[in-house]
Amino acid sequence: MSKILLGNLKMNMTQRQIVSYLKNLKQLAKHTTNIVGVTIPYPYLHLAKKYLSGSNVLYGAQNVYFENEGAFTGEVSIAMLSDYNTDFCLVGHSERRAYFNENDIDINKKVLALSDSAVVPVLCVGENLSERKTGKHKEVVSRQIELALKGLNVEDVTSMVFAYEPVWAIGTGVSATSEQAEEMAKYIKYFVSEKFSLSFDKICVIYGGSINNNNYLDILSQPDIDGGLVGGACLDVKKFSEIFGYKK
Ligand code: PGA
Repeated sequence: MSKILLGNLKMNMTQRQIVSYLKNLKQLAKHTTNIVGVTIPYPYLHLAKKYLSGSNVLYGAQNVYFENEGAFTGEVSIAMLSDYNTDFCLVGHSERRAYFNENDIDINKKVLALSDSAVVPVLCVGENLSERKTGKHKEVVSRQIELALKGLNVEDVTSMVFAYEPVWAIGTGVSATSEQAEEMAKYIKYFVSEKFSLSFDKICVIYGGSINNNNYLDILSQPDIDGGLVGGACLDVKKFSEIFGYKK
């Protein structure tokens, strides 16, 4: 089974670096049997279109606004993303929830709006450290999913991606163990499958949080983990290529 490996560039690199990154990525991804993608800062989406079109590398945005147009200074619409043939868009990344006050209502509106477009939503959910320590991780993640999926139908849910990203593992160098990641991926599949009467294999769950070149084999070999969202380790394209070259 092929896996989905998405890099998340976050707010890194300038034009010159991105161009070289994209050229190398396209080259290195040529022969992989996995699905490879990368999120690009908005100002460089046109470069992704230029350098990745016609390749097997998908590209995405890191955020979007749910309104079609209007007086929303600083925001970017789905139509704008579509102008650059953007394949997917992260929604509710924990950095957006924590630093930009994104709440579950906004996140739901974003998922709904994306579901009406050709841009695939990648919904990020995950508990923080104190929630993990007090055993509330399943409760927190189910609430986030429940609220994010309000108003969605079965087709919407089967064509989106869920990213389990425990906040305490993001950018910290402390990944969830493969058992913890598998347990939560399985739980998310269980929760969504019950809610929408779907079988597990229709639900796509990837893991994110300090995936690196030492732990990816262990994490990606878990049966319910369909791939990874890779932040820090994707910034070095060679290192990222080792991860997306994963073979069971
Ligand atoms: P990280 O980031 O791999 O640097 O922990 C993951 C993410 O934020 O999606």
